[in-house]
Amino acid sequence: MTLDNIELPLNDRELPSRVRDFIYEANTRVAAFMEARPKPLVGFFPSCFETVYRALLEISNRRLTAGNSFCEWGSGFGVTASMASMLGFDSYGIEIDPELCEVSRELASQFNLSVNFTTGSFIPKGSDRLIDRAYANCQGDMMIVPHTDHSYEDIGMDVRDFDLIFAYPWPKDARLTSALFDKFASSDALLLTYNGLESLRLQRKRA
Ligand SMILES: C[S@@+](CC[C@H](N)C(=O)[O-])C[C@H]1O[C@@H](n2cnc3c(N)ncnc32)[C@H](O)[C@@H]1O
Repeated sequence: MTLDNIELPLNDRELPSRVRDFIYEANTRVAAFMEARPKPLVGFFPSCFETVYRALLEISNRRLTAGNSFCEWGSGFGVTASMASMLGFDSYGIEIDPELCEVSRELASQFNLSVNFTTGSFIPKGSDRLIDRAYANCQGDMMIVPHTDHSYEDIGMDVRDFDLIFAYPWPKDARLTSALFDKFASSDALLLTYNGLESLRLQRKRA
């Protein structure tokens, strides 16, 4: 791995009212969405949006990114991609589940946020060996859908074009997520991961 950890202390200052309203609405919609499904969607679980917003704010205030483009890998309800847009990033979300992509678009549009959501896989082409190894290591028990498609072509971007990537991997998928970033992201790009229980990790790909 060529990833360096970056310390990211978060403050607990009051959030702007627009952000608070957005997070409130997002949490309400996520709860209703999950409650309406007797059988929950495999793989989807929301991160703590407030914690993630504070991390994005810190990254933005400290000007830690080399540029302005952001992607949420496995964007779920698209909340982090939307919050990145609120902070001025050119924001993209890639989500394998079409219904989640649709509700992400609805939520972003209610708040007039410009976010490019695409239905498909965030796993870049050329990942077969990494996927096979991860799959073997966990005896096939992984939550990331191990599949590649045309997502990046569809949005006219390459993984190397993103300055900041966010993901909330299930614990058993965390190594694969970092390995994919390490192999495909550009030097200097940042990977922010939410790891459950309000814990975050920020890593930079070494030049
Ligand atoms: C733990 S949820 C996190 C959702 C969201 N990022 C958040 O923080 O609230 C992981 C998401 O990744 C999606 N996912 C899994 N494999 C994927 C793949 N190969 N490409 C795109 N999305 C994927 C799942 O459908 C799920 O919505």
